[in-house]
Amino acid sequence: MAGGDTISFARGAPSLDIVDVEGLRESASRAFERDPGGTTAYGTSIGYVPLRQWIADQHGVAPEQVLVTNGSMQADAFLFDELVGEGDTVVVERPTYDRTLLGLKQRGADIRMVGLEQDGLDVEELATLLAQGARPKLAHIIPNFQNPAGYTLSRDKRDRLLHLARDHDFVIFEDDPYVALRFTGETLPTMLSLDRDERVVYASSFSKTVCPGIRVGYLVGPAELITRIAKRATNTYISPNMVAQSIVYEFCSSGRIRDSIETVKSALAERVDLLAAALEREIPDARFTPPEGGYFMWVELPEDVDVDALFTAAAERGVAFVKGTDFLLDGGRNTLRLAYSGVTADQIDEGVARLAEAYRQQRKQATV
Ligand SMILES: Cc1ncc(COP(=O)(O)O)c(C=O)c1O
Repeated sequence: MAGGDTISFARGAPSLDIVDVEGLRESASRAFERDPGGTTAYGTSIGYVPLRQWIADQHGVAPEQVLVTNGSMQADAFLFDELVGEGDTVVVERPTYDRTLLGLKQRGADIRMVGLEQDGLDVEELATLLAQGARPKLAHIIPNFQNPAGYTLSRDKRDRLLHLARDHDFVIFEDDPYVALRFTGETLPTMLSLDRDERVVYASSFSKTVCPGIRVGYLVGPAELITRIAKRATNTYISPNMVAQSIVYEFCSSGRIRDSIETVKSALAERVDLLAAALEREIPDARFTPPEGGYFMWVELPEDVDVDALFTAAAERGVAFVKGTDFLLDGGRNTLRLAYSGVTADQIDEGVARLAEAYRQQRKQATV
């Protein structure tokens, strides 16, 4: 089936109906009226100053601890360039965000994947690795509604990780773009807020709460590290996009962001319910845990399923997903990530029906 009719569970991006286009248009207009100079100038590498202050207030930190970037991917890249050299050990979750793996591979890191459980990183596996002599520089953790698994790190494990970081002298990189998108359950404190030893560097983004095209994200960390990264940022691009950041500032300071987050959360909650119900009905073999927020659900199929073949069969039927293998260094051939952020509620039943048909065809071929 050709691309136009494809139902995509692949893209970790919002569908247009949950982007507040009108709010953004109004915020843009206000940004140019209120601060034409600051909005149109180069600015400085730390970002648009009022937005930096707004973010600092949200996290209860000094503005010197914040650097606003072109999307949090840019923040990740700056941090990796600053802290990760060729051969340095970095702990990541298994599975983890494919672009994190790519960024670390590009820098020649020695990547150690540590298992991910329903309540987050397997901290005992990490403790064993450390006891065996591993000396990571950094542990990259996506604490809320993890990409790709949708799981959330428990409160106990947050504390345990902070202890391990202190005892074994590594930095926790808390990569947290989905934190605001909790639609059920209790919000947990960030490791940044629990940290007493400057062990945590935190990144988040407006991609999921405003829109991804605006490309605004940020880092929060020890002021000295942020100053070093700001120098790196100056040398890279003088400054990030001031127009975008000024618009985001208006969107945030006017309170519009609160409405936007409510819209996104209620749509995602509806979609995840529909997706879970459709999977139970259409693919009873599928194992999954509906997440409490965020964009993604991880699905495990029986061990003998080949996700490459399923991917091709699904594409032929006009449905897309991301193979679990993309988020791993090895294994996971029976797993996939379904994003429910980019599909509208009325596409979900049809999308899962197509996926189920592809799955049944695979099963039939495997048994002949
Ligand atoms: C865990 C994680 N980190 C970072 C990013 C990048 O976000 P941004 O759009 O702010 O660059 C994403 C986007 O999907 C993500 O899932």
